[in-house]
Amino acid sequence: MNRPYIAPAIRPATHADEHALAVIDRATWSTTVSPAALWPVGTPFFDEHTQPENVLVAHDDTHIVGYLKLRPYPHPACSDHIQEIHGFAVSPSQQGRGIGSFLIRAAQKEAIRRQARRVRLRVLGTNLRAQRLYLAHRFQVEGRLREQFLIAGQYVDDVLMGTLLG
Ligand SMILES: CC(C)(COP(=O)(O)OP(=O)(O)OC[C@H]1O[C@@H](n2cnc3c(N)ncnc32)[C@H](O)[C@@H]1OP(=O)(O)O)[C@@H](O)C(=O)NCCC(=O)NCCS
Repeated sequence: MNRPYIAPAIRPATHADEHALAVIDRATWSTTVSPAALWPVGTPFFDEHTQPENVLVAHDDTHIVGYLKLRPYPHPACSDHIQEIHGFAVSPSQQGRGIGSFLIRAAQKEAIRRQARRVRLRVLGTNLRAQRLYLAHRFQVEGRLREQFLIAGQYVDDVLMGTLLG
């Protein structure tokens, strides 16, 4: 079914977004999206690894409809030119309307603003929809850890993707 394309507004998250983001996070969890088990209700969205300034939120007139986490690559100073997408989701009822594409483009712009040269991410081999979206936005498959995870009785690859900016 074709769904109307929408142009969400994008802004950095604030602590006030905690609940809305946690709801989207849980609603989009599946064994195709994450190797981790579904976390308990009430698990905070923001923690020491996820600060509001590293989360872009997409919203329409009334609701937050998606988010993307973009953080500096947490490794040695010689990797300071790298930003990493480490969480990305759109409310199930709003998927397929271009919101994910908007968020990826906003993340690429934000990475350039942070003077990054490269953006990287990891995606499960079974998450073909997300992979298609990344490929459509100039990401390439840079590596594949074969059968890295055993998820629900199935071995699943960990796919490394990246894009050079500019
Ligand atoms: C991956 C995800 C964030 C994409 O968000 P989205 O808002 O649905 O993304 P888009 O709408 O920009 O694009 C998704 C698809 O809809 C299509 N689309 C977008 N707007 C459309 C429109 N108006 N009409 C028809 N199709 C449209 C895109 O071409 C794309 O098609 P494809 O799936 O065949 O490649 C979302 O599916 C999601 O939350 N998934 C669960 C979490 C997840 O997998 N996260 C990534 C972890 S690495």
